[in-house]
Amino acid sequence: MPNEADTIHITADGSITLKDIETGELFHNRAGAYTEALVNFVQPLYLHKHAVEKQEYAVMDVCFGLGYNTFALLTELAQLPSKIERVQVVAIEKNELPLRHLNDVLNDKRFVPLNDAMKNSCPALFDGEIGKHHFSIVGYGAGGSSSKEIRVEINLIREDLRQVIPRLANDADFIGSFDAIFHDAFSPLRAPYLWTVDLFQCYKRLLKNYQGNNPGGRVVTYSAASAVRSALEQCGFCIRRTEALGAKNGGTLAILTDGEAGIQVGDEALELLEHEVLKMHGRPGVPHRDPTFQDTWKNIQIAREAEQDVLFPVPKVNYSPRRRRRK
Ligand SMILES: C[S@@+](CC[C@H](N)C(=O)[O-])C[C@H]1O[C@@H](n2cnc3c(N)ncnc32)[C@H](O)[C@@H]1O
Repeated sequence: MPNEADTIHITADGSITLKDIETGELFHNRAGAYTEALVNFVQPLYLHKHAVEKQEYAVMDVCFGLGYNTFALLTELAQLPSKIERVQVVAIEKNELPLRHLNDVLNDKRFVPLNDAMKNSCPALFDGEIGKHHFSIVGYGAGGSSSKEIRVEINLIREDLRQVIPRLANDADFIGSFDAIFHDAFSPLRAPYLWTVDLFQCYKRLLKNYQGNNPGGRVVTYSAASAVRSALEQCGFCIRRTEALGAKNGGTLAILTDGEAGIQVGDEALELLEHEVLKMHGRPGVPHRDPTFQDTWKNIQIAREAEQDVLFPVPKVNYSPRRRRRK
C-alpha cells in the first residue's frame, strides 16, 4: 500500500497535485494544477461575457478533488467588474483523500485573497468537511470603480457522481439551475463509466437552457476524446474545443443552443478541426453508455465495441499466407 505522502506531486507552475493510487493518474496536467484550472476550466466560461451581467452565477464542480477549479473561478470572479452578488457552487467528490489537502491548496500564494476571505467564515472547508459553507469575497461593481461583497456558498457533497447526478437531475430545486458544469473525472480510458451519454443527459437537464439568441449553460472538460465529444453532441450540445495546455490537446466546451437554428455561440468558441469532426463522427466517436448508472467498466466497453462494430465494421484481416501465382 503506497504511503499517502508519496501521492503528492509539484507541477511545473509550482502548484501541488495528487497521484491517484487506483488509476495511477495524476489529478492534473504536469504543466500546472492551477494553470489547468484556469486554461481548461475557467477561461472557457468567458466570464467577462457570460457572467458579468448576471446577479447570481451557479456552477457544479464534478470531481472537485483539490478544489482548484472552484478556487480559480472565485479568484477570477473577484477581479472582474460585474453585477454578481451571489455565487453558488455544488461540489461533488467521492473520496476523502483530496479533501484532506484543501488547506495545502488554499495556502498557494495565488489564493491568498480567497484564503483570507474564507479562513474566519468557514474554517471547516479547509479540513474538507462536507455540507454547506458560506463566506464573502470582495469583488468590483459593474463600473469597476467601487468594491462590493459577493456572497459565496459551496455545498460539498461526498458521494459517487453516478449516484448524485441522476438524483439532482430529477430534483426541481436543481433542474435548469446551473450556468456551468466542470467535469474533471479521471480519463475516459480509465473510467469510461464517468463519461457516458446518460450522465451528460443529466447535465443537460441541470443546466440553464438557451433563451432567445443567448446560448444556455455549458459543460467544460479537459478531455478531447472523440467518444466524449460525440456523447455530448448526441445530447444536443454544440461542441467546441478549448486551448491546448502543455503537451496535451485542448479540451472540450459543450454549449446548450437551439441546435438546428444555430444560435451564434460567439467568438470565444474554437471550432473543431476537420480531423476532429471526422473522428467524432466515426468509429472512435461511438460513445459510452450506462443507462442504469451502475454498469461495470467491462460491460460498458463491451457494449461500446459491439456498437462500433455495427456502425463502423472493421474489415476482417486475413492473415493466412498469400498463395504465389504461378508464372
Ligand atoms: C482528475 S481528479 C479532479 C481534480 C480536481 N478537479 C482538482 O481540482 O483537484 C478526479 C477526481 O475525481 C474523484 N472521483 C473519482 N471517481 C469519482 C466518482 N465516481 N464520483 C465522484 N468523484 C470521483 C477523484 O477522487 C478525484 O478527486
